[in-house]
Amino acid sequence: MRIAMIGTGYVGLVSGACFADFGHNVICVDKDSGKIDALLRGEIPIFEPGLDALVASNVKSGRLGFSLDLSEAVKTADAVFIAVGTPSRRGDGHADLSYVHAAAREIAANLRDFTVVITKSTVPVGTGDDVERIIKEANPAADVAVASNPEFLREGAAIRDFKHPDRIVVGTDDERARTVISEIYRPLYLNQAPIMYTGRRTAELIKYAANAFLATKITFINEIADLAERTGADVQDVARGIGLDNRIGAKFLHAGPGFGGSCFPKDTRALVKTGQDYDAPLRIVEAVLTVNDNRKRAMARKVSAALGGNLRGKTVGVLGLTFKPNTDDMREAPSIPLITALQDLGATVQAYDPVGMEQARHELPDITYCDDAYACATGADALVIVTEWEQFRALDLAQVKQKMKQPVIVDLRNIYRPEEMEKAGFTYESVGRGKA
Ligand code: UDX
Repeated sequence: MRIAMIGTGYVGLVSGACFADFGHNVICVDKDSGKIDALLRGEIPIFEPGLDALVASNVKSGRLGFSLDLSEAVKTADAVFIAVGTPSRRGDGHADLSYVHAAAREIAANLRDFTVVITKSTVPVGTGDDVERIIKEANPAADVAVASNPEFLREGAAIRDFKHPDRIVVGTDDERARTVISEIYRPLYLNQAPIMYTGRRTAELIKYAANAFLATKITFINEIADLAERTGADVQDVARGIGLDNRIGAKFLHAGPGFGGSCFPKDTRALVKTGQDYDAPLRIVEAVLTVNDNRKRAMARKVSAALGGNLRGKTVGVLGLTFKPNTDDMREAPSIPLITALQDLGATVQAYDPVGMEQARHELPDITYCDDAYACATGADALVIVTEWEQFRALDLAQVKQKMKQPVIVDLRNIYRPEEMEKAGFTYESVGRGKA
């Protein structure tokens, strides 16, 4: 199959590289010449474990290319994937579809033989209809089918998620389109990944419903954590105890500082807007957003409480800035509102992150960036673990303690056991592990 991938952001680049690895011929197109030039030089603009090697080997084999020229890539393609950004629109929280619409217009002008146009970007219900209308208006003779094929990959595990999906969702009623898409994913059926064919609008809604459900699960356990803390229960055992029930499932029940990232906050906001537009309000998801937003500031108050209720003149070391480990992504990272709140409460903040500090400087210009975890502990009144990078799981606690001004650790990811911390001489606070 010949595939044109429009957009070389996270989803476009990972999907393009994986499709090439399946044996298809893929051209990834972007308007950003800086990005395309970098990719042509072999530089990967995002941090994703394994992606550089995957891109390099498929470029070498001639199956993966990068181009600024959309028209050439579309003219020869059997399938064109739209994988451009759908950020939150300023002001109202709706998904901004201007990039998707612009891509549809440009694609329309270049369609030749039968082509399947597939939205991979996360788009609100009904966007496939818009794309089809735009294409048909711009090029009434086009022989085209428009499908939805949402992506469920997680940053940091994107290649694994792409190659071993829990399911593939294909939204189209067009038989020819189903045949093309099933050919594209054929290597995955060989891995026995379930493929689900639905209507286009259903596929679009599945993506949002999945993200909103996961965001709800996290927010639910975070509130249970607060209750556990006050009642002398342990949220990790509660999570395990409920998660062993197959109807609930054990995943996404880790209490923490609240969810962040490029998907959950934006997609839950957009889903709430769609619900309001269709007079089918999603009150649970609305509550999830509010609870999650408030949680970041609550975490700053937790740090303050660990230091006796006053952060004026105190130095707080923050370990981990990115919204989760194994990414350099700072989008909607809990560390940003948390650190801002610590500063508002009078603290001076110093921080360390293994790969996110370059990105973090834009968001958090007035903190001190440290060279490693121990430098971050030096002179600190409290050390706060915000992102659970592997390297923070086995710190030399004696060294940390010796460098700190006061031995206080606030572990917002529960990566240490309270007993070991107490034994090491720390005042230790974590999330949802109440003292009976
Ligand atoms: C998510 C979805 O998992 C993925 O399917 C979708 O395609 C895009 O959005 P991603 O944003 O990369 O992926 O990260 P994910 O691992 O899902 O974590 C999102 C946020 O939730 C992070 O801030 C993480 O720390 C938080 N989280 C996750 C928890 O606080 N507790 C959990 O149990 C799980």
